[in-house]
Amino acid sequence: MLMLVVVVVTMTMMTMMTMVMIIIAATCRIASRYMLSAPPTPPRGRGHDAGVPRDGPFKYNFRNWTRKPVQKDELFSVVQTNPPPCSLAAHCDWVVGSRYEHWGRLPGFTVWGDPYTVPGTIFVNTDELETFSESLLHCIPRRHGVVLITGDHDKTTPLQTDVRYPRVLRSSTWANWLKDERILHIYVEHLDAAVTSSKVSPIPTGMNPRDAGGMSLATAPRKVRIQSLPLRVVEIGRQRGGRQFLERQFVRDLCNSWRWCDVANTTNEGFSAVVQKYPFLLCVHGGGIDPNPKLFSAILSGAIPIMRDFPGATMYDGWPVVRVSNWTDINTSMLAQWRKLHAPAFEDEWLRNQTLERLTMRHWWSKIHPPPGPRRHQSI
Ligand SMILES: *[C@@H]1O[C@H](CO)[C@@H](O)[C@H](O)[C@H]1NC(C)=O
Ligand SMILES: *[C@@H]1O[C@H](CO)[C@@H](O)[C@H](O)[C@H]1NC(C)=O
Ligand SMILES: *[C@@H]1O[C@H](CO)[C@@H](O)[C@H](O)[C@H]1NC(C)=O
Ligand SMILES: *[C@@H]1O[C@H](CO)[C@@H](O)[C@H](O)[C@H]1NC(C)=O
Ligand SMILES: *[C@@H]1O[C@H](CO)[C@@H](O)[C@H](O)[C@H]1NC(C)=O
Repeated sequence: MLMLVVVVVTMTMMTMMTMVMIIIAATCRIASRYMLSAPPTPPRGRGHDAGVPRDGPFKYNFRNWTRKPVQKDELFSVVQTNPPPCSLAAHCDWVVGSRYEHWGRLPGFTVWGDPYTVPGTIFVNTDELETFSESLLHCIPRRHGVVLITGDHDKTTPLQTDVRYPRVLRSSTWANWLKDERILHIYVEHLDAAVTSSKVSPIPTGMNPRDAGGMSLATAPRKVRIQSLPLRVVEIGRQRGGRQFLERQFVRDLCNSWRWCDVANTTNEGFSAVVQKYPFLLCVHGGGIDPNPKLFSAILSGAIPIMRDFPGATMYDGWPVVRVSNWTDINTSMLAQWRKLHAPAFEDEWLRNQTLERLTMRHWWSKIHPPPGPRRHQSI
C-alpha cells in the first residue's frame, strides 16, 4: 500500500516536472516567435554599437555554455577583454552580448546558455539591456526568479552619463524591471543614479583581465607601511581627447599646481612600483564613472585611492577609499586625516587581508549567488 502511494506520488511529481519543463520550452518558443516577428525599438546605436541592428526583426542565437566555477584567488572583474564568456560573466548561466560583438569579432546577438533551462543568473552587456528586455526576458516564466547582472561596457546605467554614447534603457523599462517579480535583484556596473529599490546594487568594474600589469593577489604586499611614506599624492594616467576625459585633464592640472602631488610615468617602472612610493593615488574615471581598474590596482599595490563620488560608490563604504565631491577638496590637512583613518587597513595584516578579500571574485559572487541556505532563487 505504502509502496503504491510512493509510486503514485513520484509519478505525479515527475509528470508535474515534465509539464513545467514543457511550459518553459513553450514560453521560450513563444519568445522566439516574438523575437522573429516583433521588430525591436528603432536603433539608437552609432558606429560603436555595431551589435544593435539598424532595423527589422532580430533574434538572439544561443551557444552551448556551462558556467564556470570561481577560481581560487580570482580577482574580481566585469570586463570581458578576453574571449567571452570570461570574468564575472563566466560564472553566470546566461551571458547576453559581449564587447567582442561590438568589436565585430563575434556575430551580433550571441547568447551563451541553455535556452531550455531557466537561468538563475543572467549577465547582460549594458549595450543590450533594452533588446534583452524586449526579447529574452519574455523567456523567463512567471513565478521564477532571476538575478540580472549588467556591465562590460563604459555606458552607465540606468541614465547613461558617458557623454560619448546615447541612452540605452528607456526609463519605463527600468521602472518595469523594478516592479517585475521575476527579477530578484539587479547588479549594476557604473550605477549612475541613486536608487531607492533594495533590488538594485552597484558592482565595481574591477580589474581588466588583459591589462592587470602583473598584479595578483599572490604578489600583493600584505604589510604596507603607509604612514612612513612622505605625505604625497601621485597621478598616473593616459590623457585622452574628448569631453568624457576632460576631468582627467582638470585633475592633471590640479596635480601640477599642488607641490605635494606628482605626475608619474610608468613607462620604465611598473605601475605598482611607482604607486608603492605614495600613500595616495588619484583615481579619475575614464569611460563610464567607476574609476576602475585603477581603484582596485591602487589597493592591491598598497595605496589609498582618491576618487570623485558617484551614486554607485556606496559599494566602497567601509573600504579604505577616499571619496570627494570635488577634486579641489583635497589639501594636506585632509590627506593627513585620511591617511590616519585608513592606515590600519594597510598596516594591520589581518585588516589588509580583509581588504584584499574584497577585490576577489569569491567575495562578489557570494553576494550575487549566496550558497544555499535561506533560498533566494526558485529552482524548477
Ligand atoms: C554542451 O557542452 C557540454 C560540456 O561542454 C557537452 O557535454 C554537451 O554535449 C554540449 N551540448 C551540445 C548540444 O553541444
Ligand atoms: C613621461 O614620459 C613622457 C614621454 O616619454 C615625457 O615627455 C615626460 O616628460 C615624462 N614625465 C615625467 C614626469 O617623467
Ligand atoms: C570644483 O570646484 C572648482 C573650483 O571651486 C569649480 O570650478 C568646479 O566647477 C567644481 N567642479 C564640480 C564638478 O563641482
Ligand atoms: C582643507 O579642506 C578642508 C575641507 O575641504 C577645509 O575645511 C580646510 O580648511 C582645508 N585646510 C586647509 C589648510 O586649507
Ligand atoms: C594574511 O593572508 C596571508 C596570505 O593568505 C596569510 O599567509 C597570512 O597568515 C594572513 N594573515 C593574517 C593575520 O590573517
